[in-house]
Amino acid sequence: MMTAQQLLLLVFTGLVSAQQQALMDYLERRLLAIEDRISLWHEQTSRYASELREFKQQIVSQLEGLDKNKEALRSELETVGTRVDRVEREMDYLETQNGAQPCVDVDDKLVEQQVTVIKERNKAKYSKLTDCKDMISSIKAMKILKRVGGPKGMWTKDLGSGSGKAYVFNGTGEDTLYEFRSVRDFTTSQGTSGATAIKLPHSWKGMGHAVYNNHLYYVEKGEELKVVKFDLQKGSVVDSAVFPAENQLPVYDLNPETYIDLAVDEEGLWAIYATQESEKHVSLAKIDPKTLDIEQMWDTPCLRENAEAAFVICGTVYVVYNSKLPSRSRIQCVFDVSDMVTNDDVPVVYFPKRYGAHSSLKYSPLEQLLYAWDDGYQILYKLLMKKKLEV
Ligand SMILES: *[C@@H]1O[C@H](CO)[C@@H](O)[C@H](O)[C@H]1NC(C)=O
Repeated sequence: MMTAQQLLLLVFTGLVSAQQQALMDYLERRLLAIEDRISLWHEQTSRYASELREFKQQIVSQLEGLDKNKEALRSELETVGTRVDRVEREMDYLETQNGAQPCVDVDDKLVEQQVTVIKERNKAKYSKLTDCKDMISSIKAMKILKRVGGPKGMWTKDLGSGSGKAYVFNGTGEDTLYEFRSVRDFTTSQGTSGATAIKLPHSWKGMGHAVYNNHLYYVEKGEELKVVKFDLQKGSVVDSAVFPAENQLPVYDLNPETYIDLAVDEEGLWAIYATQESEKHVSLAKIDPKTLDIEQMWDTPCLRENAEAAFVICGTVYVVYNSKLPSRSRIQCVFDVSDMVTNDDVPVVYFPKRYGAHSSLKYSPLEQLLYAWDDGYQILYKLLMKKKLEV
């Protein structure tokens, strides 16, 4: 027999377990609902994430496209820039050919002055040689004479004798030069027709050659940097000497083919060069044109960076600078072996051309002209001088 107490307990236990069951059911439903929502969130998040990824990819590819457009635009601009340069040069050329500019009259006379005049000038200059004190005041005029050859090269007159002959060295590593009877012959002939082709025993290196008293001085292409003296009348090598500097570098940043630039001034033959020892700067040496011996060497404060060419006048080296994209050439550093001229005495001298890139500039002491090669154009610059001590 069950007691009332026992019955009560049984009922109570049943109640409790029913309540428990209900609670369990309830919890389970909640859990399921939560699980559903979690999986919904999960789904949404992964959808967002993949949408975000897609968006990012779109942006990246659009950015890439923009970058490509920018590149294309830039290279197009550069091409246009080069073409503008070219057109400007062609215009300059045509203008000087047509004789429309006032300065051309002056220059025409310049070119017409032939041997006789030069001989007289020669005499006058010789008395000056002992006290050579000229320095550049400005560049007075420019004349574009002709276009023959490639972007890089050198042209010059015989810078010593009054022979009046003109020489064309096309390229940076050739072995055949062209000799014209005069600058006038060069100007009026077609290309290199009418010229005498002179073949050298070895190719030259760079654009640093010099013609001086019927001899060509050039740097031979090879393992060592050798200066060769070549008799242009006899057509034979007279002498050669290894340049006595170690670890040589290209002397001009913007014309890296030239290691030694041979220059002529009122006092004779010079070499403008660079070595690892003074790697940031241009060095200078005086050479004996008879024996090729080095008489003296100087380190100059002039930087090689952005230099395109240099020349020597009365013992002062003038270094000409430009920029990688051809801009206006300018004389921006001078070094005088006699210490009479400093950079303060020569404010930056700009070349009259608007844009250009000289591969060589050769000073003719007899005429006070610069023979320049600019992208295959042969140009003459007339220099205006003043005395070194006049400030
Ligand atoms: C000058 O040299 C360039 C290569 O540097 C060559 O293409 C061109 O034909 C040469 N011109 C003459 C006139 O020799």
